[in-house]
Amino acid sequence: MGSSKKPQQENQESNSGILQGPIIVGAGPSGLAAAACLSNNGVPSLILEKSDCIASLWQQKTYDRLKLHLPKQFCELPLMGFPEDFPRYPTKSQFISYMESYASHFSIKPKFNQAVQTAEFNPVSGFWRVKTQDYEYISKWLIVATGENAEPVVPEIVGMDKFQGPVLHTSLYKSGSDFKSQRVLVVGCGNSGMEVSLDLCRYNAIPHMVVRNTVHVLPREMFGFSTFGIAMALLKWLPLKLVDSVVLLVASFILGNTDQLGLKRPKTGPIELKNVTGKTPVLDVGALSQIKSDKIKVMEGVKEITRNGARFMNGQEKEFDSIILATGYKSNVPTWLKGCDFFTKDGMPKTSFPNCWKGSDGLYTVGFTRRGLLGTASDAVAIAKDITQLWKTNKDCRNNYCNSHVILLK
Ligand SMILES: Cc1cc2nc3c(=O)[nH]c(=O)nc-3n(C[C@H](O)[C@H](O)[C@H](O)COP(=O)(O)OP(=O)(O)OC[C@H]3O[C@@H](n4cnc5c(N)ncnc54)[C@H](O)[C@@H]3O)c2cc1C
Ligand SMILES: NC(=O)c1ccc[n+]([C@@H]2O[C@H](COP(=O)([O-])OP(=O)(O)OC[C@H]3O[C@@H](n4cnc5c(N)ncnc54)[C@H](OP(=O)(O)O)[C@@H]3O)[C@@H](O)[C@H]2O)c1
Repeated sequence: MGSSKKPQQENQESNSGILQGPIIVGAGPSGLAAAACLSNNGVPSLILEKSDCIASLWQQKTYDRLKLHLPKQFCELPLMGFPEDFPRYPTKSQFISYMESYASHFSIKPKFNQAVQTAEFNPVSGFWRVKTQDYEYISKWLIVATGENAEPVVPEIVGMDKFQGPVLHTSLYKSGSDFKSQRVLVVGCGNSGMEVSLDLCRYNAIPHMVVRNTVHVLPREMFGFSTFGIAMALLKWLPLKLVDSVVLLVASFILGNTDQLGLKRPKTGPIELKNVTGKTPVLDVGALSQIKSDKIKVMEGVKEITRNGARFMNGQEKEFDSIILATGYKSNVPTWLKGCDFFTKDGMPKTSFPNCWKGSDGLYTVGFTRRGLLGTASDAVAIAKDITQLWKTNKDCRNNYCNSHVILLK
């Protein structure tokens, strides 16, 4: 690419003009990691972000007591680790401050308030056309970084519209202080459901957590070492099924038989289940002891919501003041990426890890590995390597054919 071009950030401010390098959709950890790795290789990029800040999931859609579940070395982005004085499990605000330092260290300046509405490859021109509400951006490369958890899943439960009290998804839950002494129905028992229920206990609320299915609960640590870290280490030497058996054996030694608490384990082991279905095991940070002491009540599936509460599958009926939907998240890729068969209808790549980062026609994905931030890091490195090779060796790029464009739409 000719060095006479204006720097990318300058061009971003104008209504139309030339941009350089790939377009990245999403300024979460994945988008930032991809931009940093590209920048480190001398390749510019432009991030389009629909919200008004980086890491918007973390800044705007998570609860106050959130801490990383995995030790920090498994959650750091490429090229810049967490500060040494951060604890083993950084808090939400520490994670956000790390993201901010990361963006500033690599001079990443996303274009905020740009919600990508459509992105489509034009086979005639060989460029991606990416439309937001204001602009059309055109580039040879499109990096999808909108996340596995882009939109809350809000299930339709019979009678929900009749319920008199507040109903909110965990993406809007901040703290149990809003629910002091209330009877709260928490629908879902993933990490969010467990932690929100635990948080509610701290404010003397009475959480009733709905467990409609099987679930793996594991201790966050085993004998002072991270369960995840132990599993990762064992996987280097032992087959996956054996590692699952070891983890479950130690988990039952530490936690006891969770089946007896209404938390029946799936037949498939926790790591195999995560790899195959994406279902994350719950890493216990205190909810289990609240379940054992009956402060968090485990309920079977909900049959219907009533005006004042809920009726359960076993016929029981209970009154509640509020309902919290800890029912998870989904990808939003199918709503905006058009004419591309790289993704399933659920917005996840059809190919699985470690090959899910690259599609055809200059399409890339970062952060869709079902492996959390560790997967993000490996995707970002692979994408940057691939694009850098093209950038540096492609004759078309050298004569500016690879320039991207931005056009004001209104
Ligand atoms: C409560 C909670 C706790 C978690 N804790 C951990 C953890 O401890 N460790 C771990 O590894 N993972 C954790 N995760 C998983 C989490 O998804 C990752 O940590 C991380 O946020 C993924 O980064 P990402 O950039 O891929 O996606 P996101 O963080 O979701 O970022 C995607 C960005 O894309 C933007 N975007 C979406 N659609 C568009 C569009 N159409 N146009 C423009 N911009 C768009 C969004 O606004 C967002 O800023 C947690 C998730 C949740 C919900
Ligand atoms: N501290 C942390 O690191 C932390 C904290 C929170 C979340 N996270 C991560 O964030 C991601 C999302 O976690 P999450 O807990 O929000 O979502 P999740 O893991 O997808 O769990 C969703 C839960 O909701 C249940 N559910 C969905 N629809 C339901 C319905 N109609 N009725 C009853 N139950 C229903 C699911 O049950 P089924 O299994 O039956 O579908 C499941 O128990 C995960 O990767 C998780 O690890 C991390």
